[in-house]
Amino acid sequence: VNPSALLADTLQTLTDRARRSLNPNRFLHLLGVTHTVTALAGRHGLDPGQAALAGLLHDLSKQIDPNAIKKDLAGWGIAIPPEDRDHPHTWHGLHAAEWARRKLDLNDPDILEAVTLHTTADAGVCPLTQALFVADFTEPLRGFKQAPPVLDLARRDLLEGFREALRVKVTRLRNKGRSIHPRARRALLDFCPEEGSETISAVG
Ligand SMILES: [Fe+2]
Ligand SMILES: [Fe+2]
Repeated sequence: VNPSALLADTLQTLTDRARRSLNPNRFLHLLGVTHTVTALAGRHGLDPGQAALAGLLHDLSKQIDPNAIKKDLAGWGIAIPPEDRDHPHTWHGLHAAEWARRKLDLNDPDILEAVTLHTTADAGVCPLTQALFVADFTEPLRGFKQAPPVLDLARRDLLEGFREALRVKVTRLRNKGRSIHPRARRALLDFCPEEGSETISAVG
């Protein structure tokens, strides 16, 4: 089978599913992220096809109710990880990755990691996860004023752009009085140790 044709079929399947499952704004966000992560991948020597798959998958389960997500995962024999129990807004990544593994037979570990961890990142995440995290924060429709400089930085240096996206995202959450997910804390400690300890002590 021609691998490009197979990839094109899968991208089409995911796009159709996303158009059906998401409201227009979320669908456009998904396309913006897919565009951005694919461009970053092309610049930094990652596989653009893998990046496009990760982009289209990342928020595919975003509009599924957390209780339904929990039920699906239970049906697949997967429990919500203890550190995610108080953060239901992160469950859609795990759900989309597991769905792709089961329904599309998608087993690429980098894609599955990127989709699962796109909301929080974690210590030691792979470059595709870094690129998706940056793209999710900086895609053209986001409209955050910090987005263009973070994306510029990521275009020049993916790791530095990821570090900055992590800092900015955690700072935004902190300013809104939101709790920081344990995985995001671990990501900060690993990728931006000075900033990490500062931010974590500020959050408590
Ligand atoms: Fe998401
Ligand atoms: Fe997203």
